[in-house]
Parts: sequence; C-alpha cells; structure tokens
Amino acid sequence: MKILVTGGCGYIGSHTILRLLEGGHDATVVDNLSNSQYESLLRVQKIAGRELVFLEADITDPVALDRVFEHNPVDAVIHFAGLKAVGESVQEPLRYYRNNVTGTLNLLESMDAHDVRTLVFSSSATVYGNNPQMPLKEGYARGATNPYGRTKQQIEEILIDLQASDPRWRMALLRYFNPVGAHPSGLIGEDPLGPPNNLFPFVSQVAVGRRDTVNVFGSDYPTPDGTGVRDYIHVMDLAAGHSAALDYLSDHQGVHTWNLGSGQGHSVLEIIRSFEKAAGRSIPYNLADRRPGDAPVSLADPSSAFRDLGWKAAETLESMCADSWRWQENNPNGYRTEAVPAVP
Ligand code: NAD
Ligand code: WQD
Repeated sequence: MKILVTGGCGYIGSHTILRLLEGGHDATVVDNLSNSQYESLLRVQKIAGRELVFLEADITDPVALDRVFEHNPVDAVIHFAGLKAVGESVQEPLRYYRNNVTGTLNLLESMDAHDVRTLVFSSSATVYGNNPQMPLKEGYARGATNPYGRTKQQIEEILIDLQASDPRWRMALLRYFNPVGAHPSGLIGEDPLGPPNNLFPFVSQVAVGRRDTVNVFGSDYPTPDGTGVRDYIHVMDLAAGHSAALDYLSDHQGVHTWNLGSGQGHSVLEIIRSFEKAAGRSIPYNLADRRPGDAPVSLADPSSAFRDLGWKAAETLESMCADSWRWQENNPNGYRTEAVPAVP
C-alpha cells in the first residue's frame, strides 16, 4: 500500500515508517519539522535500504494538504502530527486546539475530497484522565484532564461522528500508553527539543551527562515503592501495532479503538535502576514533590488488541533501557551534529 504519514519525522512516526518500508509499503511523509529533524528520515531510509517521499508541510494549511493528496495518491493515512506537551497545552491551549484539532479537520476534509477513507490515529491513554480503575479498558469513560488530552478526546469524537455519517470510513484509534525505547540499530530514537518532559529521555540525558539529576516526582504514592507506576511500551512494539491495525482495516470498516500497552507496570525507581544496569553507570536522583496532575498508576488492559489484531508487546524493560541507551550513547546530541551545552 501507499501510506501518507503525517508527523512522520517524529519519534513514533520514524519508527513506524521504518516498519512500513520493511513490510513493502511505500511512504509519503508530511511534517512541518516543528518538533523534529529531517535527519530522522535520512536514517530510516538508510536502515531500510529504501526511499520515501518527504514533503515539508503544515497540516493547519488546507491548501498545502490538498496539494499533497492531489500529487501523491495514497491508500491510507497514519496521523501522528500533533503537539504533545501537557504543561505547554495548559499555557497555550489555542495553539494546541488549532494544531491538533483544526489540523485533523483539514486532514479529514482533504482525505474525503480525494477518496481516501482509511485512517490510523495516534490517540493516547491520556483520554482516560484520572480514572482509578486499573487496568484501563477501551470501553471506560473518557475524561481528559488537560487541553492536550482534550484535543485527543475531541478528535476521537470527530472520527466517530464522521464514520457514523459515512460507513466507508475505516478508522483505528490507537491509545498509546508510555512509549519508550528506540530501534536496536541505535540510529533513530527520541530526540526532544529542550528539557524533556517525560521520564525516559530525562533519565537517559542524565546518564549521558547532559543533565545532573533526575527529579523523581512523588515518593508517597500508594504504590509498592511510593513512586509513580506506568505502562511503558517499546516504540518497536508500537510500530508493529500500527502495521497490525492497517492490516485489520484492509478488511474491516468502522471505528476500532485499541489500547497499545504492555499491561505491565514499572515504578520510577525501577526505571532508574534498570537504566543504570543498561548504561553501566549510576544515575543520580532526588526525591521531589509530586507533579501536579499525575496519577499514581496508569496501566493498560491490552487484551482487545491481542484478540483483534494478534498484537501484544514483545519487548522487555531491559530491552527498552538497552535500546534507549544505545541511541543516547551513540547520539549524545540527538540528531543535531553540534553539541548542545550541558545544563548548569
Ligand atoms: P513527536 O513530536 O516526536 O512527533 C510529532 C511530529 O508531528 C513531529 O515531527 C512534528 O514536527 C510534527 N507536527 C506537529 N504539528 C504539525 C503540523 N501542524 N503539521 C505537520 N507536522 C506537525 O511526537 P511523538 O512522540 O512521535 O508522537 C506522535 C503522536 O503520538 C502525537 O500525536 C502524540 O500526541 C501521540 N502520542 C504520543 C505519546 C508519547 O508519549 N510520545 C503518547 C501518546 C500519544
Ligand atoms: C512517567 C512517570 C512521572 C519525569 C505523559 C503524558 C501522556 C502520554 C505519555 C502523550 C510519572 C515520573 C517523569 C521526571 C519523574 N503522552 N517522572 N521525573 O506523565 O505518564 O505521561 O506521556 O499522549 O499524555 O501525560 O509520562 O514520562 O512524563 O512520566 O519522576 O522528570 O515518571 O511523575 O510517574 P506520563 P512521563
């Protein structure tokens, strides 16, 4: 198939495109490079030994999107493009709603106009909000607690309404839990611009010496060691989940929602210890206050994805840490060639 991938230069997109190319699909990538570098796709092409088409464009520009579809006929779209920082979304809600929601509306209108009605969408466990019933199942009520999460929730609703109006649409809503890790080559990985908001990239930047100490946000949660527990999912497992969802859509209409998580929980201290082992060095940390808005535990019930797609997480905490570390150690400054100064 020919697949249009929005946001394909980013972390999850680049790993998924590699999987698509290796599976014999063709990829056209649209990205505005607002949170990524084109270098990621140069490396994807190097690993795959195949070429793709890259078009620098912004999904909030409907004219540019129409041109993309007009000149690049595709069979399906995987839609990763979006802003994803929770704290930033609280400070700049309009930018988030415009980029994520308006961008998706433009994409859907262009798809419809060009008779492309198969879509895999990057949703998030964040749509469950602070629901304490663990593990989280797809049928539970949504209740996102911040503007970023509400963009995902609103987009899910838009997709459901659109499919109800026209049964030709085939849609997969993939709710990722906590994506981590990197391709085992160490050539592509997560490369956040500025201080990482998420635990894994922060820990790996401390391990490589770009930052001094990990702040552990909360040590008095009702969890075995008092620190937050999450369902970390290797990005290569996520990539396989996208490919399985695309296969499923080739013979199923309708909207289908799947959690992509491992079903296993790991605490912040477990992550730090496991990363220390992978990196062979100690990682200084400091027990800090809770981060506002954080839930004590977040865990997926991934059984629907296994039942429908035959997909389940195959990687381990060890491989998540080893692969993240290989990427970080080989690319201490990410995709940038010049050194990023260490934070004082
Ligand atoms: P990322 O920032 O690495 O990738 C997103 C890509 O989209 C970037 O390359 C960015 O430049 C591009 N982009 C953003 N706005 C755009 C626009 N208007 N037009 C064109 N391109 C645009 O993020 P990621 O971690 O790869 O996440 C991919 C998707 O998965 C996002 O939608 C994110 O919300 C969702 N998601 C991520 C996580 C996570 O923790 N990484 C968890 C759940 C869901
Ligand atoms: C994991 C654990 C923190 C950083 C976020 C988004 C969610 C989804 C995935 C997009 C928590 C603790 C973190 C640090 C720490 N993204 N932590 N020190 O918050 O589970 O989920 O990313 O959809 O929407 O909210 O992930 O990696 O930020 O935190 O102690 O420097 O690590 O408190 O327990 P989170 P995270």
